[in-house]
Amino acid sequence: MAKAITDPNTLVRDEIAKLPNFRVGVRYEEFKKNNPELDLIRLGSNENPYGPSPRVLDAITSNLDKIHLYPDNTCSDLAREFASLLNVKVSQLVFDCGAESIMLSLMNVCLRPGDKVLCLSPTFPVLNIWAAAAGATVIGIPHEDDLSFSAERFCLSIDQSIRMIYLCMPNNPTGSYFSKSELSLIIESVDPNTLFVLDEAYVEFSGNKLDYPDAIALLTEAGKPFISLRTMSKAYALAGMRVGYGICYHEDFAALLKRSNTVFNVGVLTLKAAVAALSDKVHLDNYLEAIYSERRRLEDEIARMGLRAFESGGNFICLSLPSFEKALKIEQDMQQTGIFIKGQRGRSIASSDFEGVLRITIGKPAENNQMLKILKTLV
Ligand SMILES: Cc1ncc(COP(=O)(O)O)c(C=O)c1O
Repeated sequence: MAKAITDPNTLVRDEIAKLPNFRVGVRYEEFKKNNPELDLIRLGSNENPYGPSPRVLDAITSNLDKIHLYPDNTCSDLAREFASLLNVKVSQLVFDCGAESIMLSLMNVCLRPGDKVLCLSPTFPVLNIWAAAAGATVIGIPHEDDLSFSAERFCLSIDQSIRMIYLCMPNNPTGSYFSKSELSLIIESVDPNTLFVLDEAYVEFSGNKLDYPDAIALLTEAGKPFISLRTMSKAYALAGMRVGYGICYHEDFAALLKRSNTVFNVGVLTLKAAVAALSDKVHLDNYLEAIYSERRRLEDEIARMGLRAFESGGNFICLSLPSFEKALKIEQDMQQTGIFIKGQRGRSIASSDFEGVLRITIGKPAENNQMLKILKTLV
């Protein structure tokens, strides 16, 4: 007789057993193996299609003889570089294998069962999963009919019961952000016991947006607790190396996050690659310029097709569609041609009915042209 198997659901907390089976990541390699005749165009993960600075590759190859040794767990070289770039203290910084790891730590460390997290809707979807895993409830504030987000409407939901405000700026998937006056309104409304989690994974791409606020300066001036999450996956093209960082309002908060985390979390080669990437400002600026001009061009082309897009400060554009099904259908049809983009649920229309959004990473000009050509046939 077969032995009875212990139900894994009984071994984990109830909140974990109840988590929905969420679609995470894209299996590009498997797709290519099954469709060898197609040229893949990856516009589904907001990656940098140009790759990192050549200095990164030099740094990796010249440090291969060190991979049997544990890394510097204080990330001291990288921390020094970022502290000087950002004008903060080294002790305010935390590092991990991606901004998402810092986000997960924050949810585990800061949220108690029954807590509330306030955010935009739609926003970076893993927030919902990790908040639910911590037993917290997420309250999403939807966008307006003109595809903007209203700071006034956001403030209406702020009260002392909100444990955490998660504000993704520029927001994934819409690319939206609040201006200085809008953000100030939100900051003023927040209780000093509410943690402000600013997810600025795409902050570099708002460099040409004159109204993008210095959120850290505003929060610091207001004396409100915050952490700004940043990543080297996007602008610095190190998604595969896994390194993200957080800028904390106070060094004691950074110390608590470090104390509750694993000891060695950023690898030897990753640290060398990150310092090298940071040293090549020309490489970064060239990519940012390419994004600014292609973003403008794509926005114009999309408008010419009669489609509605959010105003984006990210390395992606985001279309608004009448239904989630429509967004998913375009994603799937596009994938048949080898082009990956991302359909998501947008604003809710009824309890189980949603508008759709379609997030499209800004690729190289030839990739964007191919995507536009196919999109025209699908909408
Ligand atoms: C808004 C947002 N935050 C965080 C992350 C995670 O970045 P990382 O690659 O550093 O884990 C992403 C990745 O796509 C993102 O879109």
